Amino acid sequence: MRLLILGTGRMAHNHAKAFAAIAGVEMVGAVDTSAENLDAFCNAFGIERRFVTLEAALAWGDFDAVDNVTPDAVHHPTTMLALAAGKHVFCEKPLATNADKAMEMVEAAERAGLVNMVNLTYRNVAELHKAREIVAAGTIGAVKHIEASYLQHWVALRDFNDPGPWLWRLSTGHGSNGTLGDIGIHILDFTTFAAGQDIVSMNCRLQTFAKVPGDRIGEYVLDANDSFIISAEFANGAIGTIHSSRWASGYANDQRLRIYGDKGGLELSHGHWGTLLRLCVGEDVPTGTWREVKAEPVHTNYQRFAEAVRTGVTAEPSFRHAAGLQRLLDLALVAGRDHQEHTI
Ligand SMILES: NC(=O)c1ccc[n+]([C@@H]2O[C@H](COP(=O)([O-])OP(=O)(O)OC[C@H]3O[C@@H](n4cnc5c(N)ncnc54)[C@H](O)[C@@H]3O)[C@@H](O)[C@H]2O)c1
Repeated sequence: MRLLILGTGRMAHNHAKAFAAIAGVEMVGAVDTSAENLDAFCNAFGIERRFVTLEAALAWGDFDAVDNVTPDAVHHPTTMLALAAGKHVFCEKPLATNADKAMEMVEAAERAGLVNMVNLTYRNVAELHKAREIVAAGTIGAVKHIEASYLQHWVALRDFNDPGPWLWRLSTGHGSNGTLGDIGIHILDFTTFAAGQDIVSMNCRLQTFAKVPGDRIGEYVLDANDSFIISAEFANGAIGTIHSSRWASGYANDQRLRIYGDKGGLELSHGHWGTLLRLCVGEDVPTGTWREVKAEPVHTNYQRFAEAVRTGVTAEPSFRHAAGLQRLLDLALVAGRDHQEHTI
């Protein structure tokens, strides 16, 4: 696969390291509106063809697929252009800034028969797949109750007198749906994937905390949500809470999921420190004894995308799946405003 990297900021470096390690993948060009980021990235990864617009890269056109690592609001317009030019697309999450735009991307990709996948990073965690298998096998019985969290502390650590490239993540006017759009999408996927249950209705509380006087830095109005709490009902009638914050002092980037069934419980924790999957079932239930479960490695999203382009068959997580998550995010934003229960 000849791959064009679109957007060469922080996350693109992770993508490039991952793609560089996959046999048969060649990063042949890169695009960024920031010449500084573009040069630093291309020099680091030995990429010769450099473009300041996607249009210029498409006019050259000597690549099979686009890896879209631009900010959230840029995903939709650039992916639509890439698809129109017949390029397969691997896009960062969230797929778009709302479900309507996400569905336009789904339809354009499917109509053109192009491979379309989204980087829901935690699908790379082997224990998440093992958790899904355990729940699907009925080992913990019928799922009744779920608790999930995704905690980050980066906003608590920021110096707002010295703002950096992260400012767009705090501003709805710059295409951010806050914590909900940024990491809410991950924990919604983490939870529903492991539980094997879709969310059918929800309520949501959102909070944006004051950061600077006037809640504005230059053109950036700091209005994006920082914390959310979703209370959800799942397809089988189970209920759960899913919450997240980027003010969670002490937690750099941690997910925790607990699923309780009528035969046992499962707990999955993941962070920079590693991953722990534990199970409490059978005769361990009365004593509350939890035992670690190991998992075999799984292919990463990057590997799955390379294989999908080779075979021409989209793999999960697809645009369509990510658009479904986007519907949940849209609904959570509405519920966060009106404090009403909403059915999907
Ligand atoms: N999957 C994950 O775990 C994960 C983690 C971090 C970030 N992300 C996602 O990755 C994306 C990028 O995040 P980041 O932290 O790297 O942001 P960033 O701001 O560091 O990098 C974005 C880059 O895109 C460039 N850019 C902006 N508009 C462009 C355009 N029209 N054409 C070409 N380049 C353009 C910017 O100049 C910048 O270099 C976001 O959507 C974010 O949500 C995902």
